[in-house]
Amino acid sequence: MPTIRSTIRFLLNDEAVEISDLKPDETLLDWLRLRRSLRGTKEGCAEGDCGACTVLVGRLAGDGLVYESVNACIRFLASLDGCHVVTVEHLKGQNGRLHPVQQAMVDFHGSQCGFCTPGFVMSLYGLWMREPWPSEAAIEKALQGNLCRCTGYDAIVKAAKAISEYGVAADSELAAERGRISDALWEMRDGSRVEIGAGKDRLVIPVSADDLAEILDAEPGARIVAGSTDVGLWVTKFMRDIAPVVFVGHLDDLKGIEETDGMLTIGAGVTYTQARETLAARIPAFGPLIDRIGGEQVRNMGTIGGNIANGSPIGDTPPPLIALGASITLRKGGARRTIPLETFFVAYGKQDRQAGEFVEAVHVPLPKAGAHFGVHKVTKRRDEDITATLGAFHVEVEGGRVASARIAYGGMAATPKRASAVEAALVGQEWSVATVEAAMAEYPKDFTPLSDMRASADYRMTVAKNLLLRFYFETTGTKKPITVTRERAA
Ligand SMILES: Cc1cc2nc3c(=O)[nH]c(=O)nc-3n(C[C@H](O)[C@H](O)[C@H](O)COP(=O)(O)OP(=O)(O)OC[C@H]3O[C@@H](n4cnc5c(N)ncnc54)[C@H](O)[C@@H]3O)c2cc1C
Ligand code: FES
Ligand code: FES
Repeated sequence: MPTIRSTIRFLLNDEAVEISDLKPDETLLDWLRLRRSLRGTKEGCAEGDCGACTVLVGRLAGDGLVYESVNACIRFLASLDGCHVVTVEHLKGQNGRLHPVQQAMVDFHGSQCGFCTPGFVMSLYGLWMREPWPSEAAIEKALQGNLCRCTGYDAIVKAAKAISEYGVAADSELAAERGRISDALWEMRDGSRVEIGAGKDRLVIPVSADDLAEILDAEPGARIVAGSTDVGLWVTKFMRDIAPVVFVGHLDDLKGIEETDGMLTIGAGVTYTQARETLAARIPAFGPLIDRIGGEQVRNMGTIGGNIANGSPIGDTPPPLIALGASITLRKGGARRTIPLETFFVAYGKQDRQAGEFVEAVHVPLPKAGAHFGVHKVTKRRDEDITATLGAFHVEVEGGRVASARIAYGGMAATPKRASAVEAALVGQEWSVATVEAAMAEYPKDFTPLSDMRASADYRMTVAKNLLLRFYFETTGTKKPITVTRERAA
């Protein structure tokens, strides 16, 4: 067993912090504002939507140090052990002047009432360090998770384009001090497990996946928290008790991405941001899908494992993963089992996961050369919106006929679900409009969708059918559907 520490340690701006009196559900935002009086970081929605609470979090990754924007309102304080938290108060320019991001916002009138401004500034600071001269598309993507009710955004985008005219990103404090900050974070990694509090105040931070397995074996009822983009809202919106909590978002051994023999294995703790590059390169339809999950802050925190384990019928990654024939490995103590992902979702709110078991990895077979694969997410808004209906299609056509079909939907049933009757109507048939139209008649056998605030049952059914037709047109190029890409919109 590793040594036990009863404090968390991290860097807050220029200061090393060590805390022992924290609760498992204490958010970073509350701690900053209420305990440290750092009130530049604002609370708007307290649910990860508006970006007013955006801060940067630096974490060690391999040999490097990566800074990402996150929502402090749904990020638990304990999950920052070993990180560098950078708030808007840290920003300053040379000789007492404003920081380049702030000066650009002033000069281009990117702020009116000012409530959203610190959040925008932090998101733009993160972008500027990565891309000093960002394209309009990159700016739009970086700001998907920041809402402004005053400016209409145009002024902010103009400011974002101009930041490098006010200063050199490589000279900014976080870039210049990288070595010193990395050293300080490495020193904090002492190989200890963190255990603080008891009962409803108990939190544990394992040191490795093996340690996690041991902890969950001993405390099978403990709540796993990875990116907290779901669990954070249980606290801020529903006032639920979540303790005892085991934090897993930092575990490097749940963050691997490997490809062997046509199979991608993605650790459960891989965030959307970390998965995007590989998924988009190997399964191109995944790239645009990931870009439409939450805003950048949510994608920097939310994990693929959390998106699966929460069992939501409207999670965006399970339908495409099911259509690809993915499986997941679950681990309890030293025992592992691997099951097809589609069998993990048993019923609404019920998954095939025993107490003390955790999702370790998802295994994704890459589509064969020539196979058709597509995903379409339908929402009320293009960005930062939860799925009304999402269809994922994986069809192999040989000699003009459908050799195999795996089709799965979100938002159409109590779980992510395959369209088995539709698949059966396609397989063996000519890949043609007539076959697709015949298969469209089979949807009521597979699905009885609900009406809710996102869409009516009729709308969902109509859209689900039409997505298949759209996929057909895309694969054959016979009729090009209208697509509004981020680049074209910009
Ligand atoms: C503003 C906002 C926008 C969002 N937009 C989208 C969207 O467009 N599409 C979408 O699909 N989702 C969206 N989400 C939901 C969320 O981002 C995802 O479901 C996310 O993938 C959850 O991962 P997490 O790491 O944050 O999980 P957490 O919140 O940490 O945990 C979620 C659940 O999974 C369990 N869990 C986590 N990891 C494991 C593991 N390894 N083993 C076992 N159990 C585990 C937890 O115990 C909990 O029950 C959004 C959320 C927010 C706040
Ligand atoms: S306060 Fe709105 S995203 Fe955090
Ligand atoms: S300046 Fe008022 S909300 Fe953005």
